[in-house]
Amino acid sequence: MRKHHLAVIGGDGIGPDVTAAALTAVRAAAGKFGFAVDTTEFDLGAEHFLRTGVVLDDPAVEKLREHDAILLGAVGDPRVAPGILERGLIVALRVAFRQSVNVRPVRLYPGVESPVKGVTPENCDLVVLRENTEGLYAGGGSTTHAGTPHAVALQNSVTTVAATTEIVEFAFRLAQRRRRRVTLCHKTNILVHAGQLWQDVVDEVATRYSDVEHDYVHADAMCLHLPTNPGRFDVVVTDNLFGDIISDLGATVQGGLGVAASANHNPTGSAPSMFEPVHGSAPDIAGRGWANPAAAVLSAALCLATLGERDAALALEAAAASVLAELPALAGPDMGATTEELGRRIADRVTTVDPVAIGDPARS
Ligand code: NAD
Ligand code: IPM
Ligand code: MN
Repeated sequence: MRKHHLAVIGGDGIGPDVTAAALTAVRAAAGKFGFAVDTTEFDLGAEHFLRTGVVLDDPAVEKLREHDAILLGAVGDPRVAPGILERGLIVALRVAFRQSVNVRPVRLYPGVESPVKGVTPENCDLVVLRENTEGLYAGGGSTTHAGTPHAVALQNSVTTVAATTEIVEFAFRLAQRRRRRVTLCHKTNILVHAGQLWQDVVDEVATRYSDVEHDYVHADAMCLHLPTNPGRFDVVVTDNLFGDIISDLGATVQGGLGVAASANHNPTGSAPSMFEPVHGSAPDIAGRGWANPAAAVLSAALCLATLGERDAALALEAAAASVLAELPALAGPDMGATTEELGRRIADRVTTVDPVAIGDPARS
């Protein structure tokens, strides 16, 4: 029997709850589609850091590396200064495992209401591809005269042809399997050095994909066009920070952060890819059972698709979508069920749902 070894980092806040719900659904899919999953839980996140003073050490990285894929919930805790866990764990793993392509599908599932008027399942099906290892996340920085009125902070940005080409190639290949349109999102009118490099790479790669159209939208204008005309976009490729921001916007358009999934792909397969919801640890609702686990389940679907379990991935997506369509609200006390109950309901649905009815996570 096929067996997949998953590393699991529940993390902080709602992370462990949504991850447990996703695993319930994954196990149901494994049972139905005839493969085995074994999981190794990693105790990483705020509690581990507060206890040990260590966010992530080399032995943990090497142990994670042995797995076929990593499922991550979320990290971030009000007791820990911003950046320590986020940079020290998530960004560190994305870089250590060369997960340069962050796939963030923006899809409105039938029966889910978008808060934006006029957005329908027919016109809302795009994928944001976010470069995941460079940009302002990678450049380092410094502050002089910190804490004084003369303080000056420098935050550098790194953009290389190598990483940019990797994700732009990925974008064109993905577009070939979708609606054949790539949109570069940047800020070439201000960030002239990085912007020009991105545009040059897109223009060069495009010469090899004559069947795919490409265009360009500034990141600020994207904040207008994405919610008001999502149907205009198929594959949006962008840098690390713009991708972070516009994917939360995309999440809103598709019904909220509780629905938005992501895959941190190592496109070469040289190290495990990591699958995590777009949302964070949501300390404002942690421990109440109000978190929607659909984003974690849909991220697990992207994981199964990557591991070659396409039917299971489709079943997970269809099951999550079918349960989402029944909820009176997509988050909070009015959701009609707890995180754990929804995990069980999605898992039950995996066994009955038509796997091809909704979408195709393997496309993303
Ligand atoms: P957040 O995504 O945690 O929460 C934003 C809002 O969305 C909150 O009101 C929250 O209750 C709601 N929300 C998020 N996920 C939800 C879900 N599944 N169901 C229902 N509602 C949900 O963002 P934030 O509040 O800016 O950040 C909180 C912490 O998480 C910070 O420490 C931040 O650095 C961290 N963070 C981590 C990740 C990650 O681990 N990948 C991502 C984003 C933020
Ligand atoms: C995300 C998060 C992360 C990011 C943080 C927690 C490092 O916001 O995955 O979108 O900025 O990439
Ligand atoms: Mn984010």
